[in-house]
Amino acid sequence: MKVVIVKDKTQMGATGAKIIADDMRGKPRHVLGLATGATPIPLYQELIRMHREEGLDFSRTTTFNLDEYIGLDPAHPQSYRYFMKAQLFDHINIPKENTHVPDGMAEDADAFCEQYERMIRDAGGIDLQLLGIGSNGHIGFNEPGTPLDSRTHRTGLTESTINDNARLFERREDVPVEAVTMGVATIMDARRVLLLACGENKAAAVAAAVEGPVTPDVPASALQNHEHAVFVVTEDAAAGLKGDYERP
Ligand code: PGA
Repeated sequence: MKVVIVKDKTQMGATGAKIIADDMRGKPRHVLGLATGATPIPLYQELIRMHREEGLDFSRTTTFNLDEYIGLDPAHPQSYRYFMKAQLFDHINIPKENTHVPDGMAEDADAFCEQYERMIRDAGGIDLQLLGIGSNGHIGFNEPGTPLDSRTHRTGLTESTINDNARLFERREDVPVEAVTMGVATIMDARRVLLLACGENKAAAVAAAVEGPVTPDVPASALQNHEHAVFVVTEDAAAGLKGDYERP
């Protein structure tokens, strides 16, 4: 695992977007794993800029999002499908049929989870998976305690995640309490992993993930065992790290 400490969100977005663009340019039929949340927004803005100004081409890219709330329609403004459309897909040349976000409305969620794993496999596996990190150390909606060998599954959200997400909903009781998420092992199968973190509320989770023991209590710690995982972390989110890391 490699750690890069950057000054601020803008530098985090630019550093992350360059890693993605370099990987895409090396493989035209690229399979990209995507994440939602506030953290990846600067990266998506930089990818959009690269598309417009540098011709970064998404016409043969396939994407798989990490997770989706159960019970939210794709047209709901807080659904992750809606987020992806607004923050990225509507601004680049990716064919809609190449974009995959778990179906939070599937009648049989368990069957859907198996199908999602199959779709990822059939696409040739994920070349690069983008991740944020929860203040409790989650990746995707793999909350603390999720087995590290988990595949795509249906899961309940912890109080801490519901509280973190409540700011985005009118009322706390509107926050969905369940989601479909890729599992930790699904994420570990990606050829490269890029985790972004910014903000002091992530400092404890970043320190535990990078320098603590590998444990299901901190799902992001599994990435210590990934050969090609990079954490791009802002100064404030890196405040709990003790080691010496790259500062470009
Ligand atoms: P955030 O969420 O980017 O909105 O902080 C990250 C996460 O929970 O994975």
